[in-house]
Amino acid sequence: MEGIETLKKWVDESENIVFFGGAGVSTESGIPDFRSVDGLYHQKYDYPPETILSHTFFMRKTPEFYKFYEDKLLLEGAKPNAAHLKLAEWEAKGKLKAVITQNIDGLHQLAGSKEVLELHGSVQRNYCMKCHEFYDFAAIKEKVVSSKQNDDPKSPDYMVPKCDKCGGIIKPDVVLYEEGLDDDVISKSIRYISNADVLIIGGTSLVVYPAAGLIHYYRGKKLVLVNLGETSADSSADLVVRGKIGEVFSQL
Ligand code: APR
Repeated sequence: MEGIETLKKWVDESENIVFFGGAGVSTESGIPDFRSVDGLYHQKYDYPPETILSHTFFMRKTPEFYKFYEDKLLLEGAKPNAAHLKLAEWEAKGKLKAVITQNIDGLHQLAGSKEVLELHGSVQRNYCMKCHEFYDFAAIKEKVVSSKQNDDPKSPDYMVPKCDKCGGIIKPDVVLYEEGLDDDVISKSIRYISNADVLIIGGTSLVVYPAAGLIHYYRGKKLVLVNLGETSADSSADLVVRGKIGEVFSQL
């Protein structure tokens, strides 16, 4: 694949790599992305997925939100792939400073990465909207699945996970459309990107803001794109490797 040798050289020489990624990093782990032809946003639903994954929809049609969420995002059993593992290896060797991801699947942490900035939150964290009690992935999965089995769709509790402590509605710690990103995560991401020697962008279409806008804080001369599809950053990149990120990273 074109460019791998250069990428390998830049990685071998650097002690300050930052990675910025998206759903394309997890497709080789079996999790579909959003905008590829077989991605989530091209599958048939009553509403466009961007509508379902919005704050308004969550508040007004909570059971339908959780139906989609359980079916498409509460995925169990996915394993980190070569891309996740290589990033964790570079961090352990002191070569990579941070992974900044738009993904909510927690696979970077599962691969061993420590400094992971989750711009869009994570399915691993869920909180009661009333008393802020924490619920992990397994707890929310169990609640949603059991509510589906015991209740009829007309009951108010159907597919709506409720807090054991106060009865409040539990909400995933995922940034929905119409919601803001965490200020602390944003400012840390900007600091890592603006100080980076090598910025590797992978598995993202770079169409969702403000996440996609963060890459413009990079001031170096080694901006790398490792992506199957074209992106708006290709023309300003110093190196574009067109390929599957797991395959590319396993050659580095
Ligand atoms: N290797 C490299 N690139 C890949 C691979 C792969 N194995 N699989 C897919 N891609 C590329 C696709 O070509 C596409 O350009 O990854 C990109 C995935 O783009 P999207 O599906 O738009 O995902 P992402 O950029 O993460 O979306 C951003 O949109 O809906 C919101 O919150 C959601 O975080 C998500 C945000």
